[in-house]
Amino acid sequence: MSEITLSVIKADVGGFVGHTDVHPALRDCCDEQLAQAKKDGLIVDYARGEVGDDISLIMTHHKGVENEDIHKFAWNTFTAMTEVAKKYGQYGAGQDLLVDAFSGNLKGMGPGFAEMTFEQRVSEPIVIFLADKTEPGAWNFPIYKMFADPFNTIGLVIDPSMHDGFRFEVQDLIGEREIIFNLPEEMYDLLVFIGSPSRYVIKHIYRKSSDEPVAVTSTQRLFLMAGRYIGKDDPVMVVRCQSGLPAVGEVLEPFSFPHAVAGWMRGSHHGPLMPVGFEDDTPSRFDGPPRVVALGFQLTDEGHLVGPRDMFGDKSFDNARQLALDAADYFRRHGPFEPHRLPLGEMEYTTMPQVSKKLKSRFKKAD
Ligand code: F6R
Ligand code: MG
Ligand code: MG
Repeated sequence: MSEITLSVIKADVGGFVGHTDVHPALRDCCDEQLAQAKKDGLIVDYARGEVGDDISLIMTHHKGVENEDIHKFAWNTFTAMTEVAKKYGQYGAGQDLLVDAFSGNLKGMGPGFAEMTFEQRVSEPIVIFLADKTEPGAWNFPIYKMFADPFNTIGLVIDPSMHDGFRFEVQDLIGEREIIFNLPEEMYDLLVFIGSPSRYVIKHIYRKSSDEPVAVTSTQRLFLMAGRYIGKDDPVMVVRCQSGLPAVGEVLEPFSFPHAVAGWMRGSHHGPLMPVGFEDDTPSRFDGPPRVVALGFQLTDEGHLVGPRDMFGDKSFDNARQLALDAADYFRRHGPFEPHRLPLGEMEYTTMPQVSKKLKSRFKKAD
């Protein structure tokens, strides 16, 4: 078996209408660029993913992670799509391209990416999750359940090849540090951190026996890069499945509960993360609620992507959707109050500094 790199690189380069969906002309432009890259031999294979106003380039290649050629290709593709977005008057055209020109790799430039290099197994089932109107920490809850919770993943209990558990790499997005936890031994330590998903995010999962990654998430936080509030990051996550890893059904199972995430309207509200089929990937009500699609692929041993299958299209997720809609009603009735609106700390990136400044002289010392 040979090594392959799977790169998922995403950006919002213009919405149709507002921040709800992508115009077909952008999809066409994206497909043309990807087909050319395959023809040129830069990539082995590709697929296009989409959720809400975000497009993902899903690519297999032999160049490794954070490769300049691959990242530059993605940048150029998003730039070309931005031109199309401008032509069609799309909303927020080029919004995630934060710098004027590409240099080196995409870190700090706006687009999000999740990449991993691994030895392909004879049959390699992979699920790629794409979310809109939320932040990278939204993956903490489901990925924890997939790889650490025996009530979700029975394989941790009864499959001898999973029984030792997994290693979790966690990034501190504000402190710019990272740490590895061994599960299940350090479960309680891990939970102290990842229970705060706005700051601590699970970046990689590794097998205990090797350094080979089995899952990866995108972890950029746009507002930290831009130095001002410009929305949530609409993250992606790639998970390898089966044969000593969580089964596809164990990987999908956490989404049967639409847990509350930060994002939604103006990136400033908590709401349920609703699993949806491809047909329903267009956040509309109050610009949401936040949603996630799941693209299933089989990777052949030559690195070709067979898929995608619409994994949340199945009716077994209907109850989760209904619960998400009911939770959306519940949260919305709080209007501008917490815990629907995000807590003060997160509001620092919106109007709070200006309003506080304006009212400063009117605040008197309280007895
Ligand atoms: C959330 C999001 C939208 C916008 C909202 C206001 O991530 O993208 O909810 O924040 O539609 O957008 P602007 O400020 O562009 O009018
Ligand atoms: Mg947008
Ligand atoms: Mg988006």
